[in-house]
Amino acid sequence: MKLPRRFFQPLAAGAPEPFRELPVKLERMIHFVPPHNEKVRAKVGDLAATVDVVLGNLEDAVPADQKEAARKGFIAMGKEVDFAKTGTGLWTRINALNSPWILDDLFELVAEIGNKLDVIMVPKVEGPWDIHYIDQLLAQLEARHKVEKPILVHAILETAEGVANVDAIACASPRMHGMSLGPADLAASRGMKTTRVGGGHPEYRVIADARGEEARVSAQQDLWHYTIARMVDACAANGIKAFYGPFGDFSDAAACEVQFRNAFLMGCAGAWTLHPSQVAIAKKVFAPDPDEVNFAARIVEAMPDGTGAVMLDGKMQDDATWKQAKVIVDLARLVAD
Ligand code: GLV
Ligand code: MG
Repeated sequence: MKLPRRFFQPLAAGAPEPFRELPVKLERMIHFVPPHNEKVRAKVGDLAATVDVVLGNLEDAVPADQKEAARKGFIAMGKEVDFAKTGTGLWTRINALNSPWILDDLFELVAEIGNKLDVIMVPKVEGPWDIHYIDQLLAQLEARHKVEKPILVHAILETAEGVANVDAIACASPRMHGMSLGPADLAASRGMKTTRVGGGHPEYRVIADARGEEARVSAQQDLWHYTIARMVDACAANGIKAFYGPFGDFSDAAACEVQFRNAFLMGCAGAWTLHPSQVAIAKKVFAPDPDEVNFAARIVEAMPDGTGAVMLDGKMQDDATWKQAKVIVDLARLVAD
């Protein structure tokens, strides 16, 4: 049974009222930066103009003895850079709930840059209880520090338990912005046999009907199809957004593009970019193909009120294809703006 989102929202006095409708925003890439690295931080102002979202990463990949420096660096970044000027989202990935850093992360970030922070990404979410915990803390902290709009929450789906609870996580709070697949942690949690961060695996094959060698070459190699599909359904059913996560092999742009595109075609809004070279890939992939946009625009034009049936280039169109076309046309408009 799905509980109404508001059930879990006993607001602290003075906390901003959470909203149900997400603002419509282009978030093709969530670009990760290490805020403890001063050289990277110095360039974030320029970077902000080229990406949809800048995320200051405080969790994995930040060494334990740099956690404090990363948090302070992120706060400095939030104060120094005018992300609103370019409409760039400012996000962070906080440390995991079972780590010794999470409370300081939340307390300091909301106190110092609560009015600038758009989204907090929460790693290793296992069930709705993790979101409730963050939700309650944020409500108290927002009230205390007079934060004017609620900070949204984005869950990383990266444990087997999280995948089992994906629907409950998606509707755990009105703060939910969306969810990302975390293939590295998820592989470890499931006991999968890979050292890769996302993407296919040359030894993972879909066994075809053909026999012998022919069967071996008929390979799909997609380890993530099932989880992405579950995540997209849970997100779409609750009006939030789904994202593919990291692609760790920076030397393989073609494989990164394929992974991003599969996620896009299945309903994801964007992906993480961990390296500047992946930003261009995300921009290319998470925007509809121009030929598809032209055809979709013809469908919308041919059925002005979205009902009925028409033939276009020998293909049947009706109310359902009109809706498909709207998805593509609306996204193309957002990209063009
Ligand atoms: C991301 O955090 C992952 O574990 O893939
Ligand atoms: Mg992870």
